[in-house]
Amino acid sequence: MPQSKKPRPQASKAPRESVKILITGGRIQRRIQEIAKQIRKDFPDEPLHLVSVLKGGVFFLTDLARSISGEVSFDFIAVSSYGQNTHSSGQVRLTRDLDSSVEGKTVIVVEDILDTGMTLQYLLRLFEQRKPKHLRVAVLLDKPERRIADVRADYVGFSIPNEFVVGYGLDYAERYRNLRYVGILTLGSDTKKVVAEK
Ligand code: PRP
Repeated sequence: MPQSKKPRPQASKAPRESVKILITGGRIQRRIQEIAKQIRKDFPDEPLHLVSVLKGGVFFLTDLARSISGEVSFDFIAVSSYGQNTHSSGQVRLTRDLDSSVEGKTVIVVEDILDTGMTLQYLLRLFEQRKPKHLRVAVLLDKPERRIADVRADYVGFSIPNEFVVGYGLDYAERYRNLRYVGILTLGSDTKKVVAEK
């Protein structure tokens, strides 16, 4: 659950949630094809090692990996955050390490969303210590308004406004990850949006 650490559910047990499509599944797939071509163009002869961050990045990783021509391998890492305002306090910790070394490899970190940037900052520091040949970042969604850490992605699918988004890997209380599209979540009445907190 990125973006807001406290998108409070309504008091009622069954809030009337709705999701309004922001980016269709078709647009996502077309953009992934473009990113895949760009990555291969930037590294025409290199085996590429994609590293995705569980869980939100898995769909982007699988679609991207299948769209890049040539040699591609991939691996997964997981991190978690301390407390409620963890991303903004920078307390990110590793909960599942990679299976294989990234030393000497051309590594692409694959993330569903770049929000405050604290997760990515942590990961880039970690990976840089491990001496990859190249280290790049691909994110499907970028929310520049929310950035705290001084990080940027090399490949961005879509730059989006500061709305609470779900789908295509992104969850609200672990739900909605399986949507093929990205949508804006609203709770309760149609005017009550889940707004990401600063
Ligand atoms: C999300 C997302 C990124 C991170 C981005 O993960 O997948 O890893 O938040 O946020 P940041 O830029 O503010 O650090 P989350 O912690 O929600 O876990 P999940 O992928 O399992 O949903």
